[in-house]
Amino acid sequence: MARTALITGITGQDGSYLAEHLLAQGYEVWGLVRGQNNPRAATVQRLIPDLRLIEGDLHDQSSLIAALEAARPDEVYNLGAISFVALSFKQAINTGEITGLGVTRVLDAIRVVNPRIRFYQASSSEMFGKVRETPQNELTPFHPRSPYGAAKAYGHHITVNYRESYGMHAVSGILFNHESPRRGMEFVTRKITHTAARIKLGLERELRLGNLDARRDWGYAGDYVRAMHLMLQQSEPDDYVIASGESHSVREFLAAAFGHLGLRWEDHVVVDERFLRPAEVDVLVGDAGKARRVLGWQPGVGFADLVVMMVESDLRELTASGAASASASASAP
Ligand code: NAP
Ligand code: GDD
Repeated sequence: MARTALITGITGQDGSYLAEHLLAQGYEVWGLVRGQNNPRAATVQRLIPDLRLIEGDLHDQSSLIAALEAARPDEVYNLGAISFVALSFKQAINTGEITGLGVTRVLDAIRVVNPRIRFYQASSSEMFGKVRETPQNELTPFHPRSPYGAAKAYGHHITVNYRESYGMHAVSGILFNHESPRRGMEFVTRKITHTAARIKLGLERELRLGNLDARRDWGYAGDYVRAMHLMLQQSEPDDYVIASGESHSVREFLAAAFGHLGLRWEDHVVVDERFLRPAEVDVLVGDAGKARRVLGWQPGVGFADLVVMMVESDLRELTASGAASASASASAP
């Protein structure tokens, strides 16, 4: 019989890739959408027609219980969150409510409705924050540097706690940064590739950024959702780091993206202190050795190919939308 999965955060980057992956494995897939008329619901439904959408909000316990009762999933993937670190400094309490307490709401709904449902929590390398060792693995202590990181650390611990207290098959995937053409424009990689493409097409002249020295372990979202699924197929629930094992600076990302377009990033980038954070995570790099050994997981797309994939996709989208020719005719004499 086909297995059923429910994904929170279906309208986000990972939600769509995970839904596609699970549908390809023969799953029936449900996605939780919030709001009374969420425009992103229509977008994801167009992209993935076989997906079944259901209303619910990580703020609202009874909506989560109702979603579990309607979808009757074998597996729940909790990807919903306020996921933008910069926003979490401005909305610290809301971030605690959704990114942190939201995890307990889902876990407790599962405990009440059907504790045999397997649960995946989208944990984050942001929990390592001011890192205690390099590279970071499943045993590295946490030192979050943002309300987001702190909320994710709570989400991680409560997942482990429900596993140990109630015997639930609950796992925490500690994922390092992963990107794609579907990445939100607020994140630095997509901000860079989209603006670089606009500059190439003559639609923009400058790109304003914050800390160019930050280093991240960037992988491809399509590879990382495979790991989420693998974690829930193990006989014993456990926690896994998912990472590429390579660290690159924002500066290096800029050089790769602008370089691919034959541009010099130094001619366009302006450092703007509005994009600096009250506390920064300077460098992240993960050790996914356990995932490789136990899950047989490995990434397929490396850093250079990821940057090219994102730049090319933004160029294609902008060209197809007619933005470039509209700008040319607007500036014609
Ligand atoms: P994303 O694109 O920002 O998507 C976040 C999702 O959460 C959206 O679908 C959003 O729905 C939903 N959401 C927000 N508030 C909600 C609420 N109150 N109730 C229900 N859903 C709500 O994030 P992503 O990059 O796909 O990441 C997926 C998960 O992995 C997140 O939990 C993120 O923190 C975590 N993570 C991501 C990375 C990464 O590098 N991408 C790394 C480690 C961990 P709306 O459309 O309604 O806003
Ligand atoms: N967003 C953004 N915008 N970041 C900038 C900018 C800018 O203009 N300029 C420099 N940066 C730096 C940030 O200060 C940070 O050090 C780095 O670029 C990456 O920022 P983001 O792309 O916003 O991602 P993040 O690393 O803070 O968080 C992402 O990865 C986490 C996993 O480590 C998010 O996807 C989180 O949800 C995820 O958990």
